[in-house]
Amino acid sequence: MTSNRQYDLVLLGPTGYTGQFCAEHIVQNYPTDLKWAIAGRSIQKIETIAKELKALNPDRIDPDVLVVQLNPTELNELAQKTRLVINCVGPYHLYSTPVVEACAVNGTHYVDATGETPWIKLIIEKYHETAKANGAIMIPSTGVESAPADILAWALVKRVREDLSSPTRQINSTIKEMKSSGPSGGTLNTVLSIFDWLPLSEISKSMTPFSLSVSPPPTNIPRESILEKLLGVRAIRDLGTVTTSPSAIADITIVHRSSSLMPELYGQQFFFRQFLSVRNAMIGVALHIAFVVGISLLALPPVRWLARKFVFAPGTGPRREDSTNDRLEYHAVATADNADAQRVFGKITYGGGMYLFTGLLLAEAARVILDEEEKIKKVSRGGIVTPATLGQDFVDRLEKVGCNIETKVFKY
Ligand SMILES: NC(=O)c1ccc[n+]([C@@H]2O[C@H](COP(=O)([O-])OP(=O)(O)OC[C@H]3O[C@@H](n4cnc5c(N)ncnc54)[C@H](OP(=O)(O)O)[C@@H]3O)[C@@H](O)[C@H]2O)c1
Repeated sequence: MTSNRQYDLVLLGPTGYTGQFCAEHIVQNYPTDLKWAIAGRSIQKIETIAKELKALNPDRIDPDVLVVQLNPTELNELAQKTRLVINCVGPYHLYSTPVVEACAVNGTHYVDATGETPWIKLIIEKYHETAKANGAIMIPSTGVESAPADILAWALVKRVREDLSSPTRQINSTIKEMKSSGPSGGTLNTVLSIFDWLPLSEISKSMTPFSLSVSPPPTNIPRESILEKLLGVRAIRDLGTVTTSPSAIADITIVHRSSSLMPELYGQQFFFRQFLSVRNAMIGVALHIAFVVGISLLALPPVRWLARKFVFAPGTGPRREDSTNDRLEYHAVATADNADAQRVFGKITYGGGMYLFTGLLLAEAARVILDEEEKIKKVSRGGIVTPATLGQDFVDRLEKVGCNIETKVFKY
């Protein structure tokens, strides 16, 4: 696609823990003729990053270095210069609403790594229609929350359509393994500041399973039993013993937005659930209780004040050498919406640090939008959409860079 904009891509926030991984992935994997820039608020910090990038791959064209403050004038100028913005400036609810506005108004494509569901709800309400009218494809949640869950669900639904000629009624998924060297300071600051931003009641209201969907939920979704609600733990056919997943609501709301944006693929009765695999029921109950108590404590300002004293500062995170053995593996089972309720198993795996993975997901999602702009506009219909709308092109790109996605139809 030809464009008269100066840049294909601007990476905003390359100085942060996630932004640096994303910049490195671009330098090491994108075509060398990419027209791009890195942008942030501090010239010294961005120039340091630019030098580090140069050392990684001296043979490619250097990115331009842009100093941008997060005000509407400077962000509008920035959005007009580029086809796409990758935004790593968080906490997103604190800083990134004007970035989304500038991209929506100027028809600039956009990806970010937020996991802040209430903020995603807010930007959808404010900017989805504007972005759509201006031809922008805007995809929040392209980090570990929620791209792996969303693209795995898409791959399963596609397999059900192709091999079983049916829409999908349900996907149960589980985080089989999440070996992580820990959250970055930016992530912890984001979690804590969400509770400063909104009272727990408001957070809960914006985090119902279909809160980001474009159409009402399907009818007859089976209810959880009181015991399941209280204890979290349960046994699921093909997935084993599972409990409450900390990323469930972020992932569920995104997958449901995907299904409501692409009902011709998923079907009208689709619903998705996510859990965390555990070795036995006792551990499952303990983790569920720890999660519920932890969230309730975070609602208390003195607890947040204390927590801030013990976490990494924003801009920092686990040492890279401590993340080399990190690993993520999600399993999921899709059930066809047909008389036989046939099932398809799926798995997504990645070996390496979770922030490296987020940087990779952002960069590869952006690449699909740049390379397949018209196709993605047609499938997603534009506006604020989801990683799953990038479809097979995203799956193919992820497989080239070490993220594996498999599906297989159960034969019994
Ligand atoms: N859900 C997921 O899967 C996932 C995964 C990874 C990251 N994330 C989210 O991504 C965000 C970034 O995480 P991180 O660990 O990379 O955080 P970080 O290291 O603290 O980086 C934050 C970035 O935002 C910039 N920034 C902060 N305040 C700014 C302001 N007022 N004006 C301009 N720029 C500003 C920083 O620039 P300076 O260097 O100039 O300070 C830095 O580039 C967080 O919200 C985190 O929760 C989510």
